[in-house]
Amino acid sequence: MNSKKITIAIDGYSSTGKSTLAKQLANKLGFVYVDTGAMYRVTTLYALNNGFISENHFNINDFVLELDKINISFKYNSELQFAEVYLNGVNVEKEIRTMHVSSFVSKIAAIPEVRYGLVKQQQEIGKGIGVVMDGRDIGTVVFPSAQLKLFMTARPEIRAQRRYSELIAKGDKVSLEEVLENLKSRDFQDENRATDPLRAAADAIYFDNSDLSLDQQLEKAIQLYQERV
Ligand code: DC
Repeated sequence: MNSKKITIAIDGYSSTGKSTLAKQLANKLGFVYVDTGAMYRVTTLYALNNGFISENHFNINDFVLELDKINISFKYNSELQFAEVYLNGVNVEKEIRTMHVSSFVSKIAAIPEVRYGLVKQQQEIGKGIGVVMDGRDIGTVVFPSAQLKLFMTARPEIRAQRRYSELIAKGDKVSLEEVLENLKSRDFQDENRATDPLRAAADAIYFDNSDLSLDQQLEKAIQLYQERV
């Protein structure tokens, strides 16, 4: 597809299928896809691996002093057809998707210094290219002038079931209830943090994919793209 290069921001609640749609859209349009959630997850993995956060402690002050030691990069995997994420040169794509990381990531994503640094990197990566970026604050903070903004929603039980199936397929031993609780808790923390909370931008289009197949959601998004360009 010969596509006009624009910035597409996809925000929304956890497990609404943002990254699936963003990947499909980027592949179809020949754009770069950036998964900003992966960047917060990598930062969380670093904090866990280096003992800054656990169930019963959180050493924010020392962690913030170490932020410049966290190097996040993406490398395109042509077999998987998306860019995998690396922490200080090591592929951590699988490690960051566990429930363990999911249960700490909203605490890390609430730290203003973390957000400041990652937003700057995201703006740098997406500057002047055709990009589809998904996250929680893309249309409001990272690229407030994005030409197309989608705010994704889906019914909670559908979101939990989708994430649960993904985790089980990867061998993570979780229950559907745990997954649902984690989604609710992350949504609450993401919406209620002081810095850049999860919000739909005023000019975002609400996109409920509860009853859409992957093909249908892609078709709908392409139609919205075409209307914008
Ligand atoms: O998209 P995800 O579920 O992988 O994101 C993991 C967490 O990272 C999510 O619960 C909130 C945080 N996040 C954020 O605060 N801002 C973003 N732009 C992307 C993710």
